[in-house]
Amino acid sequence: MRERYVNNMKSYKDILPTRKEIIMKASSEIDAFDPMRELAEKLHPDKVFLKVDEIIDETKDSKTFKLVPDRENGTERVPYFRAGQYISIKSEINGSKITRPYSISSSPHDALKRDFYTITIKKKEGGFFTDYIWNNWKVGTKVESSGPLGYFYYHPVRDINNIVGLAGGSGITPMYSFAKDIVEKDLDIKFTLFYGVECEDEIIYREELSKLESQSNGKVKVIYVCNKPGDGWKGCTGYLSSELLSKHLDMNEDMTFFMCGPKAMYEYLDVELEKLNIPRRRIRKEAYGEVDDISKYNDFPQAIKDETFNLIVNVGKGYTTIPAKTTETILVALERAGIEAPSHCRSGECGYCRSRLIAGDVYIRDDNDGRRIADKKYGYIHPCATYPTSDIEIKIPTVQRS
Ligand code: FES
Repeated sequence: MRERYVNNMKSYKDILPTRKEIIMKASSEIDAFDPMRELAEKLHPDKVFLKVDEIIDETKDSKTFKLVPDRENGTERVPYFRAGQYISIKSEINGSKITRPYSISSSPHDALKRDFYTITIKKKEGGFFTDYIWNNWKVGTKVESSGPLGYFYYHPVRDINNIVGLAGGSGITPMYSFAKDIVEKDLDIKFTLFYGVECEDEIIYREELSKLESQSNGKVKVIYVCNKPGDGWKGCTGYLSSELLSKHLDMNEDMTFFMCGPKAMYEYLDVELEKLNIPRRRIRKEAYGEVDDISKYNDFPQAIKDETFNLIVNVGKGYTTIPAKTTETILVALERAGIEAPSHCRSGECGYCRSRLIAGDVYIRDDNDGRRIADKKYGYIHPCATYPTSDIEIKIPTVQRS
């Protein structure tokens, strides 16, 4: 062993003069073609142009949209991704430029070999963007998105290959991609998926999940949990409680928990997982998207919840003043005013909307605060996760155009 190590070191030393010679002879001009840069741009493009190829009705209020590359607009292939990631869809609605993140429900294999993504969207009561998609997207509609983003994926160095998925409602979408990925690549992962719904007819991908279960050689197991079951329901009932989890899991095993669903579910599950002594490092949450009603949080300044403040926005060389409600993020205020601000995750995580707070006070929830320590110190905020609690002034970055 030691001899091999010494030989390796020796051959490394032998390479050094040759390497130095090559460097000295190299041109100082930047290569017009750089294969690594080309690969990086293909894997992580800033913009992806897609086209709706098929629309599938999943349940009474959820649809799956199959998206293929829009070659006329310059996207040759859909970029590869990790199961669990999302794309941020961009649209202009009534003069407002808006983005919304959606998990990719298809698998990485679908992207690589079949060149498509699917996203599954549940219609939301009063949902501005989902209403728009449901009423306007048809086969052939052109769609602009970001490249795949987000950190909600299994990583072999960080996570245990014994995964427990905790999905609520449409939070099933990245979990479906996980299950498909495990089966298609025959990954060495055990995946136990708890899928909680209010009513049985809300279950999405039921047939597909049962097919994956049977193809998985025991690696994938799905446990449906229905809160208001009908007469013929044979599965579990209630919520994803600690009792229910411990009944179906071997609590002596080490596991990584992935949760995706409404934010209220996270608060509930945090308590349930604590009862089971699951360490925080073993819990991963899909964080994208805004909080539905920020005023429900205990530490939110209730006394000013109906206030609207003045927001002075400095973008480029210009200033403009717009109204900003305390219960809406600064990003929403900008979009309502037709100001194009950069955004992807809308949950404080990706940092794409990072802006400077020049003056005023704001409310930021700890669990939505993805800022670096230096950014906190020097007055930077993520407008997608920041709420005004006084008149404020901010400087936002200009949106890069291709
Ligand atoms: S859009 Fe991701 S941090 Fe604001």
